[in-house]
Amino acid sequence: MSNIWVKKPLSQLLEAAGDSEKGLKRTLGAINLVALGIGAIIGAGLFVRTASAAAEAAGPAVTLSFIVAAIGCAFAGLCYAEFAAMIPIAGSAYTYAYATMGEMLAWIIGWALIMEYALGAATVSIAWSEYLNNLLGGAIPYEFCHSPFEHANRVMGDALTQFPTDLLKNAKEGVLLLSDTQLQSLPANLQALVQTSNGMINAPALLILLLLTMLLIKGTQESATVNGIIVFIKVAIVLIFILVGWQFINPANHTPYMIPEGVVGHEGIFKHGWGGVLGGAGIVFFAFIGFDAVSTAAQEAKNPRKDMPIGILGSLVVCTILYILFSHVLTGVANWQEFKLAGKEASVAYAIDKYMIGYHWLATAVTVAILAGFSSVILVMLMGQSRVFYTMSKDGLLPKAFSDLHPRFRTPFKANWILFVFVGLFAAFIPGSIAGDLTSFGTLLAFVLVSLGVWLMRRNEPNADRPFKTPLVPLVPILGAGICTAMIISLDIVTLMSAMIWMVLGLVVYFVYSRHHSKLQA
Ligand code: ALA
Repeated sequence: MSNIWVKKPLSQLLEAAGDSEKGLKRTLGAINLVALGIGAIIGAGLFVRTASAAAEAAGPAVTLSFIVAAIGCAFAGLCYAEFAAMIPIAGSAYTYAYATMGEMLAWIIGWALIMEYALGAATVSIAWSEYLNNLLGGAIPYEFCHSPFEHANRVMGDALTQFPTDLLKNAKEGVLLLSDTQLQSLPANLQALVQTSNGMINAPALLILLLLTMLLIKGTQESATVNGIIVFIKVAIVLIFILVGWQFINPANHTPYMIPEGVVGHEGIFKHGWGGVLGGAGIVFFAFIGFDAVSTAAQEAKNPRKDMPIGILGSLVVCTILYILFSHVLTGVANWQEFKLAGKEASVAYAIDKYMIGYHWLATAVTVAILAGFSSVILVMLMGQSRVFYTMSKDGLLPKAFSDLHPRFRTPFKANWILFVFVGLFAAFIPGSIAGDLTSFGTLLAFVLVSLGVWLMRRNEPNADRPFKTPLVPLVPILGAGICTAMIISLDIVTLMSAMIWMVLGLVVYFVYSRHHSKLQA
């Protein structure tokens, strides 16, 4: 009879960590690891969600929302740092749970990590496709850059002249987009001029996934080099925006700092004042996802005992500082109310074009940097996922193909290809919004279990060697788990139900396959 609570002994984990001859190559130093973290962190969260959080909930106090989200992440980050330095194995939260909470919970967390990394990669590749099309002036036909679940009602060319002016003021670059309700309210003669396109496949999203999969197979060092270049570009653009934009801050946009009571559309408790700051934190949490991905590369770090905590906490600190400054400038240059309508999409480019006169080049540079920035987020997410698969397969919980290494490159190439197919199916055929919130769910669940795991491990293995110690245990783990649980509860019901279905599916796979193939139970 197999035991679903069996724990992987710490000694066995440490033995595997020391055995790097046959396994993944140890090529990453501290700077690479911080860059890996920043590569995974700065992306759609900063460039897209900052403006939404300001418009929907926090106003200029979105800076405080970033601080709140960062505090939640910092507690979890401190716990990750202890584990990653102590057990430098590729599986991250999955591995830590295997050592502290037993096989079934480890499986559950491994399954949740698929939501974080694989769906995270799919979400950002869909955003990448949108921005590419934006940069190309909408040249990609609608059918080939949208999922079959999406459609658009468009009016273009001469037909536009027949439409009422109040609708025309929403036209952009010669194209007027109409919602289904707007379309139905039009007279029949105008309805006949509207073209409805249905999405078929999101080809650019598939393309970027394919390119990055090929790069990952080529090698971790090569991927780290490309990531390093991209990180340089995106941090440079964020800094330039902060420095140049600072002179264009209009103090009137920062007053009042929080959304006051009584503003129409902001009646809910999480839509104004301090409540709005918390609501905003939930929205910008996405911007911090990824610092934990550093821990999935633990087996490829040259000196994990010292460099893992630096990689995890260093990237978190750098990004938090950049985020606060960036959001301060963005809400100072344009008023937060503008991010509800005209500045809703491509908000950063909007603020630059409208208020930073003479800096149009910066708007284009920001778009290019965003494309590069999204690529590195996808890269690190794909890498993290294949390393989690690698470790689960080594443990027998997934088939052997997931841990077969390439004879020359020594990367888990089969896992990378399988992952490409899985992530590609989501990216090509599912709308981005569905994948986005599930990413947050998977991440938060991992944060909760890692926080509790540190506490459990202190009790079960009090004398184990800990190169980095989480301060104030159990306070920090309890706060970490508590704040992240609160954020899970605040997710919408559809996300929670979909996540539950995914987790039940995972349990079926565990009981039908993994439990019987587990090496620990053989
Ligand atoms: N933190 C990553 C982003 O914002 C997932 O794109």
